[in-house]
Amino acid sequence: MNADLLIHSAAQLCVLPGHAGGPQRGARLGDLGLIADGAVAVQDGHILAVGPTAEVRAQVRARAELDASGRVVTPGFVDAHTHVVWAGDRAGEFELRLAGATYLEIMAAGGGILSTVRATRAASLEHLVAETRPRLDRMLAHGTTTVEVKTGYGLTLQDELKQLEAIDRLNATHPIDLVPTFLAAHAVPTEFAGQPDAYVDLIVEEMLPVVARRLNGQAPLFCDVFCDEGAFTLAQSRRILERAKALGFGLKIHADEFAALGGTRLAVELGATSADHLVCTPPDDIALLGQSDTVAVLLPGTPFGLGQTHYAPAQALLEAGAALALATDCNPGTSWCESMPFILALACRAMRLTPAQALAAATINAAYAVGRGDRVGSLEPGKQADILIHAVPDYRHLAYRFGTNPVALVIKRGGVIRSA
Ligand code: NIG
Ligand code: FE
Repeated sequence: MNADLLIHSAAQLCVLPGHAGGPQRGARLGDLGLIADGAVAVQDGHILAVGPTAEVRAQVRARAELDASGRVVTPGFVDAHTHVVWAGDRAGEFELRLAGATYLEIMAAGGGILSTVRATRAASLEHLVAETRPRLDRMLAHGTTTVEVKTGYGLTLQDELKQLEAIDRLNATHPIDLVPTFLAAHAVPTEFAGQPDAYVDLIVEEMLPVVARRLNGQAPLFCDVFCDEGAFTLAQSRRILERAKALGFGLKIHADEFAALGGTRLAVELGATSADHLVCTPPDDIALLGQSDTVAVLLPGTPFGLGQTHYAPAQALLEAGAALALATDCNPGTSWCESMPFILALACRAMRLTPAQALAAATINAAYAVGRGDRVGSLEPGKQADILIHAVPDYRHLAYRFGTNPVALVIKRGGVIRSA
């Protein structure tokens, strides 16, 4: 067989296989599919063959080669939950929180999400794209090759469409693949203060149908709701998600970040692709999630970013059999984090994941959390050739070290796009 590229002699090549056509669930999380002295061959942007170097060499004739000796090779990271399209910053709020104000207090005083909404509404499409692009560049440099991106800083039909447009433009012009999610239910905008149900009416009756029309011929779209204290109630979340489901959206939910309102069981009931945050999910809901196909997306950057010490109950979720994924939650309020390696390091310390579990949660399981498990997240033949070469000798270093970037080379759809 002819190959465009052969990456060979990796100290450790981690395949991160899916299990039975799905994510790695519960106690089975952390199956690296590790191959010592490993190789992967790429043809037409896809993975052609993977295995021990001698075996792959015997199968393929490659036009170009990369020597990965002494290094670790993994799939690209999938960042399964971000709000990376925004304008402005909230450094002032960070300082207020350090002085004792809480996230919910700042939000109730008209700051928080609504402050980023003001900046994002004021920004032109071009400006929004220009502010976001360098963040994506840094994400890519840290090994993220697929990123889920939510709207939710527009909160009018026009401004939400502007965010979707920004996502489309970046998708067309940046090497990272962007997976769009519609999150008009991120906050009740100022013009609907005191009448949240009227805003929910607007989402359900006007925004969702218009956005759904974009589904034709375009990237599939998720719909998400921030179901929490100070945001949307369980009943409001149900209205929005039921309508979205009927219109053909995949479903996601911000559940149990600050208060347990029942968002997790709603996600399971509606067959959501993922339920995210889960910091204070009650035991019964953990059990339900563990029995479901809804992926649990954990975002340890958020409690860390807020200076809190309480993290999502990852061990209980694993014991319940849940499919666990990790993401940055990259946003200007709670977690301006562009580095999946940092999230791995944090997940191991704050939630006691093993380095292998964290790596699987950030690749194959994260791919399933954004509906792309059939295309990315592992180095299995037929998948998109999104591959990382890390300048470390052992996969455990990806979580063991923190604050520096382990990624030496990013290969996106077979093309070498960054070397350090
Ligand atoms: O996931 N929880 C809601 N949304 C974000 C915060 C967004 C913001 O503060 O701007 C989150 O933590
Ligand atoms: Fe979020």
